[in-house]
Amino acid sequence: MKTLIVYYTWHNGNTKRIAEMIQKKTGADICAIETVTPYPKEYRKASDQGKRETETGFEPEIKKLPYDVKDYERIIVGTPTWWYTMAPAVRTFLDQNDWTGKTVVPFMTNAGWPGTVIHDMMDLCSGAMISNPMEILFDSEGGPVLKTEESILNKWIEKLTK
Ligand SMILES: Cc1cc2nc3c(=O)[nH]c(=O)nc-3n(C[C@H](O)[C@H](O)[C@H](O)COP(=O)(O)O)c2cc1C
Repeated sequence: MKTLIVYYTWHNGNTKRIAEMIQKKTGADICAIETVTPYPKEYRKASDQGKRETETGFEPEIKKLPYDVKDYERIIVGTPTWWYTMAPAVRTFLDQNDWTGKTVVPFMTNAGWPGTVIHDMMDLCSGAMISNPMEILFDSEGGPVLKTEESILNKWIEKLTK
């Protein structure tokens, strides 16, 4: 199945790390979502801005991706959890595309408070078949320590190669 991996990462590169693990195994095309206006570098400021944005459903402008969803059958979409939902930039990406007839694999990274990320992502992919959704836990300090067992992660990635 022709597959594209699209991810957003902001803090530690946790979501990027998972996306790259999938890429290694599947050989799929991969690209990152980036906002046109970067978030403040200071964690507290970015976090406060993220809170306001997730609460209002704000969709920040994102840079044009090097690949077009139209050209793929399956799109694997990764986001960090921001205030119990997907990062705002991922909301923009999902809202901007037509998912009719596509297979979407949503995955998210979190620090222990997963909220409704997967459900919220699925809501924005109307017309898609949702396949193998996955929540991946990193440490509760918001850091880069992977807490989901590697065997579970590898099993999931293995499924994506079929
Ligand atoms: C603005 C912001 C809000 C966050 N909100 C949550 C949350 O609601 N629940 C949670 O479990 N983790 C939350 N986190 C932690 C991140 O989801 C987690 O560390 C993630 O793996 C970071 O991914 P990244 O390194 O790819 O950006 C938040 C982090 C940031 C920066």
